[in-house]
Amino acid sequence: MANVVVVGAQWGDEGKGKIVDWLSERADVIARFQGGHNAGHTLVIDGTVYKLHALPSGVVRPGKLSVIGNGVVLDPWHLMTEIAAIRAQGVEITPQTLMIAENTPLILPFHGELDRAREGQTAVAKIGTTGRGIGPAYEDKVGRRAIRVADLADRATLELRVDRALVHHDALRRGLGLDPVDRAGLVAQLEAIAPEILRFAAPVWKVLNERRKAGNRILFEGAQGALLDIDFGTYPFVTSSNVIAGQAATGVGLGPGSIDFVLGIVKAYTTRVGEGPFPTELLDPDGERLGARGHEFGTTTGRKRRCGWFDAVLVRQTCATSGVNGIALTKLDVLDGFDELKICVGYDLDGTRIDHLPTAADHQARVTPIYETMPGWSGSTEGARSWADLPANAIKYVRRVEELIDCPVALLSTSPERDDTILVTDPFAD
Ligand code: IMP
Repeated sequence: MANVVVVGAQWGDEGKGKIVDWLSERADVIARFQGGHNAGHTLVIDGTVYKLHALPSGVVRPGKLSVIGNGVVLDPWHLMTEIAAIRAQGVEITPQTLMIAENTPLILPFHGELDRAREGQTAVAKIGTTGRGIGPAYEDKVGRRAIRVADLADRATLELRVDRALVHHDALRRGLGLDPVDRAGLVAQLEAIAPEILRFAAPVWKVLNERRKAGNRILFEGAQGALLDIDFGTYPFVTSSNVIAGQAATGVGLGPGSIDFVLGIVKAYTTRVGEGPFPTELLDPDGERLGARGHEFGTTTGRKRRCGWFDAVLVRQTCATSGVNGIALTKLDVLDGFDELKICVGYDLDGTRIDHLPTAADHQARVTPIYETMPGWSGSTEGARSWADLPANAIKYVRRVEELIDCPVALLSTSPERDDTILVTDPFAD
């Protein structure tokens, strides 16, 4: 397979960073295609921990091209800070190793302010966002008032774009009791950062089409998870981009036929950060235990993640909407030592059994899980590198997950270390 898309198949935080890093060794190009620095990917390579938010995971590997595609929203100041931090860890980042699509919309300081102001308004408006301005930046993109990377190259265009954005934002800010944006200050800030960003700007769609024709392997690095997708997630408690695999093509400027394999990243239990429905959430000692053993705190905001049993209904659904060919199952070791484990196999909605998450928000909030109980295992799965290293009941659990979600396991990840991985199907194999 030439090109592989990696998507989170739950609510994000499935452990994509490690898998993307593992695959990126085999890829020539690593491309982000949606989201922004709301993402947090932790990579552990030879004991060194790298924390990435906006940068593609490929940046830490020499000789790879990392790409920020047009489907991303980019905070230029955050990016430069992140580049500086990664450089300080000895990683080289140059225009040869990092390209930013010229048509990428920017996240500006007033987007973050708006995001946080809205979150703080009333309980009714709260989504539990990361407060990084992601939603407002995507709103401006669709509202045709975004400032894009290419606009930074020309002062007159930039000022025109700023004015266009401020017509909307100053009106909105007045309503929220915020001061109007300091126009001159914003233009000056943008002019100052422009040369640093423009160094990396490129017609990404063209470069990737050429790379593809030349036989390069492209790894599309998804952020967040399919249940946070703007169309197919638990709306309105979602992020503001399409997260599912189809976005990979649109988010960089390649055709849909360029995707050869979709790898869904699936955690062996379920977590979510922020507000919104979560049918298998555990507000009991089992939930506490999953959170503590799984170190379930957000990489970006440090918030405690909500934890619950594995929900096969949700993952079957996200595997379908992303066309997942195989999953990478992560954090199985967090389940070590439980006497028994539950898997959600269906929902009860007002006395009727259903096999999918309904679309209506009140139905999503009301469904109750129907569980199947499986025996736990006493041995350890941590660090296992072959099926033979796994307790029999752990293998049974994995096999049952495959059956229920109607999708095979391609990879099994058994610790944050990159080599603690059991490979079943190589997504890049021809
Ligand atoms: P936003 O993307 O900051 O607008 O946040 C919208 C929702 O997506 C909130 O529930 C966030 O907690 C969630 N979210 C955004 N990015 C991530 C992520 O990388 N992992 C998990 N949840 C995320």
